[in-house]
Amino acid sequence: MHSDFIKQTQKYRERLVARIFSYLSAEHPASLYEPMRYALQDGGKLLRPILAQIICEAVGGDQENVLNAAVALEFVHVFSLVHDDIMDKDDMRRGRATVHKKWDANAAILCGDAILIKAYEALGRTTAVHLSQTLAAFNRGILEVCEGQALDMEFEDRDDVSLDEYFYMIDRKTARLFSLACEIGALLGDGSAEQIQGMRRFGMQLGRAFQIQDDLLDLLADQTTLGKDVGSDIQKDKKTFLMIHSRQHATPEQLDQLLLFVHKNTLSPHEIQHVISILNEIGTIAAAQKQVQDALEKARQSLQLLPKSESHLLLSNLLDMLEHRTY
Ligand code: IPE
Ligand code: IPE
Ligand code: MG
Ligand code: MG
Ligand code: MG
Repeated sequence: MHSDFIKQTQKYRERLVARIFSYLSAEHPASLYEPMRYALQDGGKLLRPILAQIICEAVGGDQENVLNAAVALEFVHVFSLVHDDIMDKDDMRRGRATVHKKWDANAAILCGDAILIKAYEALGRTTAVHLSQTLAAFNRGILEVCEGQALDMEFEDRDDVSLDEYFYMIDRKTARLFSLACEIGALLGDGSAEQIQGMRRFGMQLGRAFQIQDDLLDLLADQTTLGKDVGSDIQKDKKTFLMIHSRQHATPEQLDQLLLFVHKNTLSPHEIQHVISILNEIGTIAAAQKQVQDALEKARQSLQLLPKSESHLLLSNLLDMLEHRTY
């Protein structure tokens, strides 16, 4: 990732990590708490809680007011990853074995459940004046993440998923948590109703860009840098932007070639390169990159709602960084 943004947000990250681990003091039974600690150990980008913190400051609030809710957002995110890796049958996350691989599916289910409970424990420390609104926003948001995940699974068994259906699904499974983070940041920073709405929109656009890019990285990234198995989406016949766009625009010959790789147990680097070259021929990679840029541009426009400040600049740097991320 862009080293400037990483440097500029180091303090936010340190505060978050310290607060995250303050929620994990219990030890017994180790079969529950070890996987939890493992899942939360550093390695993640912490983008959602950092966004909440920066936006809280950007609307004039004090970072401390959003810290527990920001930790709750990261807990929700990690809960969703631990369960997502069971659902997607993935072995690698953040450069390490996934929880269900290192332990087993039962341990991972329970670990995810307990991390979600911890999210509500952290959220419960939100100041009384904002608690009910924050809680309502969380409940709506997390349920939508589950809806998105349900659709993601349903789509594995369908060949006729449209791009509209794809956007509906990623708006829920991924963009919704980003928009929740941005909304909560503005809310707990005592931003205006217009700013809260605007930040919600900002988060949706940023989140859309983020997921389309995640789809791209599944093929284009270097596996060690990404920390996840590349090619995983094709092996599971996930209806990513790439697979929907290419199915719609491929010639019958290109489609036949592409489908040779779907559901394959292993994909060699050479085979991944072959898939990439077919997608390039069809124009799918360029179309996905354009979608990412368009969504980031819309996010940039929503930023105009915020007064100019150092935090505003950080958000703008974050958008630049996301455009070129490699993990
Ligand atoms: C991964 O999110 C899940 C998606 C929504 C694509 P991140 O890429 O933010 O994961 P970490 O927290 O940095 O590992
Ligand atoms: C992630 O989608 C969405 C959630 C975890 C809710 P993916 O399944 O594409 O995320 P990765 O690629 O495993 O991180
Ligand atoms: Mg996954
Ligand atoms: Mg998934
Ligand atoms: Mg993915």
